[in-house]
Amino acid sequence: MRLCFLVEEHYRHDGMPLDVARQLTAWGHRVDVLRPGDSLLAISEEVRAGSHDAWVLKTVSGGPGLTLLESAAAVGLTTVNDVRSIRGVRDKALAAVIGRTRGLPVPVTYAAARWERLAEIPAAEYPLVVKPADGSSGRAVRLVRDPGQLLEVGPELAGEGLLIAQPYVPNSGTDLKVYCVDGELFATERSSPLRPGQGVRERQVPLPGSVARIVAQVGEVFGLDLYGVDVLLGPDGPVVVDVNDFPSFRQVPDAVARVARAVLRLARSGTAVSVPGGPAELVPAGGDPYGHLGFGEGELL
Ligand SMILES: Nc1ncnc2c1ncn2[C@@H]1O[C@H](COP(=O)(O)OP(=O)(O)O)[C@@H](O)[C@H]1O
Ligand SMILES: [Mg+2]
Repeated sequence: MRLCFLVEEHYRHDGMPLDVARQLTAWGHRVDVLRPGDSLLAISEEVRAGSHDAWVLKTVSGGPGLTLLESAAAVGLTTVNDVRSIRGVRDKALAAVIGRTRGLPVPVTYAAARWERLAEIPAAEYPLVVKPADGSSGRAVRLVRDPGQLLEVGPELAGEGLLIAQPYVPNSGTDLKVYCVDGELFATERSSPLRPGQGVRERQVPLPGSVARIVAQVGEVFGLDLYGVDVLLGPDGPVVVDVNDFPSFRQVPDAVARVARAVLRLARSGTAVSVPGGPAELVPAGGDPYGHLGFGEGELL
């Protein structure tokens, strides 16, 4: 198969997903790696060429990769994950609406484009967790104990775009991070970035049945194939605080081969959105705009 991986600068040196690309190459597939964060792309020509069986996205929220993946989907190419599903979780405000509406245990969520507007949240909702709607990797996530503290923390969040705020879910300080690869679930525990002093060593842990059911439901609700869910074990049961498309899969046994197999299966099954005209009519004859980007040549690594 021919695959195109979109890899953001942030993950340039990470094992995931480049080791997956290497594994697929070792199995005889052709993998091109595009780094949308640091490339000039003849985008209208390259995407229209449609010479890949599937496009795979590993990018940061707000990065340029999603536009490229959406372009690929718009001309009818298969994407991993499905591009609409990625959009549904990349925006944490949107994810909260979809999650709560579909019956997932997601905290009540407020959104405000200016941090000053968060002052209107009733005092009874405190302590709050405030985070950017397009955040990732714990960036700018703040615990706000009372309305007075909002005045101190708020200015640090100016410029972070749309903010969301949720009541703090009381928990042990340890996140349960659950990964789904091809329908199989793996749980790990990791210190919450809000309680870094906790010092829990990241490790695989048994997955409670109640959490497994919720995580499986997350996949159905958002339509994700490869994903991770951050779960907190609160006083009223498991709570979903974050959903990530194509996460790190850290601590998942044999993660590289598992993810590589899942990518192949998804690429074969196809998630292409049908578009008027269809991709076949958009593909120009001949030409290989990716020839110089071949993973085997290692130019972009
Ligand atoms: N409502 C909440 N209550 C308690 N802790 C939270 C809440 N939301 C987030 N957290 C903590 O903050 C961490 C980072 O938030 P998260 O939404 O996962 O953002 P990111 O995309 O940056 O990972 C979570 O892993 C969790 O430990
Ligand atoms: Mg998270």
